[in-house]
Amino acid sequence: MRDNKTVLITGGAGFIGSHTCKFLLGRDRCVVSVDNFSDNYSPEYKRENIKCVQRAAGSANNRFESFEGDIRDAVFLDGVFRETRPDIVIHLAACAGVRSSVLNPGLYADVNVNGTVNILECMKNHGIGKLLFASSSSVYGNNAKLPFCESDPADRPLSPYAATKRAGELICHTYHHLYDINIACLRFFTVYGPGQRPDLAIYRFTESVLKGKPIPFYGDGSSERDYTFIEDIIDGIWRAAIWADNGEKRFDVFNLGGSAAVTLSETVAAIESEAGVGAVLDFKPQQPWEVYKTSADISHSKAVLGYNPGTEFKKGIKAFVDWYKRSRL
Ligand SMILES: NC(=O)c1ccc[n+]([C@@H]2O[C@H](COP(=O)([O-])OP(=O)(O)OC[C@H]3O[C@@H](n4cnc5c(N)ncnc54)[C@H](O)[C@@H]3O)[C@@H](O)[C@H]2O)c1
Repeated sequence: MRDNKTVLITGGAGFIGSHTCKFLLGRDRCVVSVDNFSDNYSPEYKRENIKCVQRAAGSANNRFESFEGDIRDAVFLDGVFRETRPDIVIHLAACAGVRSSVLNPGLYADVNVNGTVNILECMKNHGIGKLLFASSSSVYGNNAKLPFCESDPADRPLSPYAATKRAGELICHTYHHLYDINIACLRFFTVYGPGQRPDLAIYRFTESVLKGKPIPFYGDGSSERDYTFIEDIIDGIWRAAIWADNGEKRFDVFNLGGSAAVTLSETVAAIESEAGVGAVLDFKPQQPWEVYKTSADISHSKAVLGYNPGTEFKKGIKAFVDWYKRSRL
């Protein structure tokens, strides 16, 4: 991606979004964030994220602009596109999280599907030709074959969240087909690291261990997650942005995983070891909306994007626990 390009990031105040903003400012890009500071978790954390991005912009603060608004508001969105004329859009805003999608399926469909259509409409109307769409490993459901490959079927989602992410990929393809928008759908595999969303397991486990509260422990501990450290995800996003920017009529789907699956028991043990405190487990049945195992085949992302995640799980957990102690205790 050439210098001086303007990148519009939806969900720029969130976990992955704020890291992406900081990274791109460090690469001398102009960055525009769109976020409604939704209350899926503390909006204060998100405002703090934006302040942190502003600090990262430093004296180059004319290269960063934050717009507060809802991607479901087509008029607001049209105004942002008109004013900022982005070269590329990284669409991360969403209702994220599997568990709460079971309780709020309508909200998830509205934000994740209708909101995505609004973004695509703005791209069409303003002639913007490059988009990265944040999809999820959850689209694979309980795929019998491991690791998950982009060519595997993704038509048996287990949660409303997964279904909306798959719907987002499909509507992205339609806009690519009709309007020649270059689109990379990035299937993120459980992202963790400093600033992580509080509803995710590593955050909840660390909080419980450090505060001496029981950890809700689902199933027998053998379920697996392919965890991806935030810096590896940002590297994948950057590579996908370059890919989308350099070529014509491109549409593809990429797994962005950490390429090493870790069991639930191993996850808790790694946090205990780093925190220096033993966990109290509160055993609960496996949840029907949770995928049992996730594992990413990243050979396609390696071959096409040069993606090569390098963060060891132990090292990533240390970075997370250190950050949690500094920022949340
Ligand atoms: N974190 C992960 O492990 C993971 C895994 C797979 C996919 N993803 C996807 O990556 C993206 C970013 O995830 P995250 O973990 O950073 O989540 P996050 O909740 O921290 O960030 C999402 C941001 O979107 C904003 N948002 C929500 N609804 C909005 C709306 N209607 N209008 C404008 N902004 C809105 C939120 O306020 C939030 O700041 C999401 O699309 C998520 O589904 C994340």
